Amino acid sequence: MLDKNPGHMEEASTKMATIKDVARLAGVAPSTVSHYFTGNAPVSDSTRARIEQAVRELGYRPNAAARSLRLAQTQSIGLIVPNIANPFFAEIVRAIGYACQQMGYSLLLADSSGDEDRERDLVANLLKQYIDGLLIIHAGKVPTSQLLEEEPPIPVVYVDREVDERASVATDNYLGGRLAARHLIGLGHRRIGILAGDPHVKNVQQRLAGFQDELKSSRITISKRHIISGSQSFETGRDAQLLMVGPNPPTAIFATNDIIALGAWHKLNDMGLKIPDDVSLIGYDNIEMTQWTIPALTTIEQDKRELGRQSVATLVKAIQERELAGSTIYVPPRIVVRASTGPPGDD
Ligand code: RIB
Repeated sequence: MLDKNPGHMEEASTKMATIKDVARLAGVAPSTVSHYFTGNAPVSDSTRARIEQAVRELGYRPNAAARSLRLAQTQSIGLIVPNIANPFFAEIVRAIGYACQQMGYSLLLADSSGDEDRERDLVANLLKQYIDGLLIIHAGKVPTSQLLEEEPPIPVVYVDREVDERASVATDNYLGGRLAARHLIGLGHRRIGILAGDPHVKNVQQRLAGFQDELKSSRITISKRHIISGSQSFETGRDAQLLMVGPNPPTAIFATNDIIALGAWHKLNDMGLKIPDDVSLIGYDNIEMTQWTIPALTTIEQDKRELGRQSVATLVKAIQERELAGSTIYVPPRIVVRASTGPPGDD
């Protein structure tokens, strides 16, 4: 039993217990209590038990702000995403939040609404919170917030939309595009349409390059009127109507992300077209809701859990070891075949 000192207990009970109160009650030096909390030096099991009992009895809580000032770290990470209402980003945020929790970091989340100016403002605000590092899924056109070039460098990792010569973690989107084309070609499709997101976004360019290269390797070309570019939106998906009117419509459509595919699915159903009998449809992301459409959507999966884990691990390593390679870590995609794709109908 600890030799309690009621005076200390009365004194401690009238004010926030300090690390010295814990040390006194546990019969150890304050530095030992600090090592117990920071893990910077080993603490024996018996000492650990005495400290834990003293902490419980005093109701001691480490002062996060004081610790942050002492360690010049807040154990917090900032994350900026372009549109939290898009399920892909929501699923990425969940994965990053889980990885931060596993590594002992808190997460400060911000939504840039896909706007570069807003993204710069958010970076400035997050820097004022003394975050230890920053994860960005950038808005799409200007890949690097200029502020990060001017401000005292904090480690930054670009997620999902890689940036040349900057630390990035992204799906191998070129391979993802090839997998989508390979699947449609394997089913026998030769007249294929594309609904593409914002052409300024690098991963849209990469998916299209992979898709077109795979078609080329099978000597398949796409009519220019069967390629529609827009944004990562439901509305761009509804432009599927423009692909399907006119002579010789495509027998399959590739959407460069699932939100576009869902818009296409909605419009094709609205037009009375059967998926996949009249036209096959394949998306990209594998957001959770694609398993619930009728028919369920074939799509290229981005491994959100792994993207989150790798992004946080890369950033935390940079925070703790001050090393950050200006290169991309690629997470492999995989195809998830469901009922929205099948062989082309009879012409
Ligand atoms: O749905 C949003 C799309 O843009 C996803 O494919 C993701 O990669 C993001 O960059």
